[in-house]
Amino acid sequence: MSTVATHPSYDELCANFDWAIAERELGVTRSGRINIGWHCSDRICELGLASKPALIWENFSGTGRTYTFDDLRALSNTIAVYLADLGLQPGERICLFMDRVPDLYIGFLGILKMGGIAQPLFSAFGGDSLWTRLADARTSAILTQRKHVGKVRKIREKLPELRHIVVVDAGEAPLQEREVAMALDELPRVERLDVYPSTSETPSVLHYTSGTTGQPKGAQHVHYSIVSQYLTAKWVLDLQPDDIYWCNADPGWVTGTSYGIIGPWANGTTQVVLDSGFSTERWYAFIDKHRVTVWYSAPTAIRLLMRDGTKVARKYALTSLRHLCSVGEPLNAEAVIWSQEAFGLPFHDTFWQTETGCIVVTNFPGMPIKPGSMGKPFPGITATVLNPKTNEPYDRPGPVGLIALRPGWPSMIRSYWNNPTGYASKFKNGWYLCGDRASIDPDGYFWFVGRDDDVINTGGHLVGPFEIESALLEHPAVAESAAVAKPDPVNMEVVKAFVTLKPGFEGGPDLELEIMNFVRNKLSPLAMPQEIEFVPSLPKTRSGKIVRRILRAKEWGEPVGDTSTLMDE
Ligand code: WT7
Repeated sequence: MSTVATHPSYDELCANFDWAIAERELGVTRSGRINIGWHCSDRICELGLASKPALIWENFSGTGRTYTFDDLRALSNTIAVYLADLGLQPGERICLFMDRVPDLYIGFLGILKMGGIAQPLFSAFGGDSLWTRLADARTSAILTQRKHVGKVRKIREKLPELRHIVVVDAGEAPLQEREVAMALDELPRVERLDVYPSTSETPSVLHYTSGTTGQPKGAQHVHYSIVSQYLTAKWVLDLQPDDIYWCNADPGWVTGTSYGIIGPWANGTTQVVLDSGFSTERWYAFIDKHRVTVWYSAPTAIRLLMRDGTKVARKYALTSLRHLCSVGEPLNAEAVIWSQEAFGLPFHDTFWQTETGCIVVTNFPGMPIKPGSMGKPFPGITATVLNPKTNEPYDRPGPVGLIALRPGWPSMIRSYWNNPTGYASKFKNGWYLCGDRASIDPDGYFWFVGRDDDVINTGGHLVGPFEIESALLEHPAVAESAAVAKPDPVNMEVVKAFVTLKPGFEGGPDLELEIMNFVRNKLSPLAMPQEIEFVPSLPKTRSGKIVRRILRAKEWGEPVGDTSTLMDE
């Protein structure tokens, strides 16, 4: 299976590769000025595309609005000035805590233009998830909506450094301490702005991502990341001047910023955004209505579409689609074959992470797809799998090892916020370790096997067991807990919690439901356990560490492995 590429072949591009290709096309250098906010709006206007639609936005009820690149430019200037007038300084963290409304996208560019660090957080986060990330980043301001401000109010007393709570749709609603109303449409449109003179290494975006141990870590990106994001969007998503591009991801997660804002707009691409949850018919109708040509989606969504069958797809004119990509979880071979049947096009898998900032392994357009494989490294990315015993690449194709990348591409994160040890632990032997396992076949294609840690990937979203277990422990009935992944036909994995109870508490369906809701409200629907098993004790090492590996293996029907260091097995 393959589709026709509109640029030179993978092999040709690899042979002549240099990131300077992207620098030249973007007009940037490593030592000069780069501002993502400016590059995604002002520069596109300077290229003569001021009146081209940049954002075609629609909400769940079908209300829509279109913004041109000139609108993006002026409105992001307006937000930049508004934030600076509040007294916010370059380098301060400014959180975006909103649904996918236009202010989120424009605000992102505005923050970058005034030199702030944009910290997007998923609007479904509950108070605890929000607090952990705002406290860690010592965030100075948060842009949010009326419907979410209640969650901020509940935690603001514990956030003395959060000086401003900016409500973008306050209307006449009464505001409380530290809150201000920012009605973008009513502010004078700022046509001219001295954009903050950021350079390649100036911090740009701070995304929180989960690991096995400790609370989520802030992955710190810099303005130079645009070099990778621009070129991967152009070559892998195959963006062309007339494309109508749709990325399903929420900017609370890295796909939604790297490829839902920066990549496409740096290319001057028109993108459509649907601020609404999943519905097969709604999604097909959206593609049909806007004549979407390039679609970046995720395996969980594709599995939901598959469940509804190809017949529903036939009810809509989906012939505008030209190129399909997927990210976030392993893309099963069946999904690739199904999409060929349903849309006449295969989904192209793309593998990457919050930390990599850009696609690193992919089914490149025009390259034959082996369904079930992630494809090959993007030109300019050196990727391999390491023997876990030696941390050296295997000398032959075949064995399963740790996915490793040679550091140095433009969009690699530069640090974890305030956590140098965590960052250093990601490198071994000169390689950056992704925390995933894969094998490489004799043709150089990567085959994903699984994560190499206890992180749970639910519908393409990573959730850390530590954060869930910490929330569980706050429930009065819970003595100890372990959160592990359990298989799920749609989300690939969901959270399952094993819980021991304090004396006087009895496990049962009512308590299970109560604890589930407790976690959902504190963290998010993603982190909520779908099942809680009450157990008399948890498997532990002799030193008292809970061994999630054993619980997980049982859920997956896999061998439990070496148990010689355990206490009571
Ligand atoms: C982890 C990164 C990068 C955007 C979304 C997630 C898993 C990602 C694939 C894929 C198999 C994948 C990995 C990775 N993952 N893409 N194509 N096939 N697994 O970013 O939240 O940082 O998650 O998602 O486990 O390490 P993230």
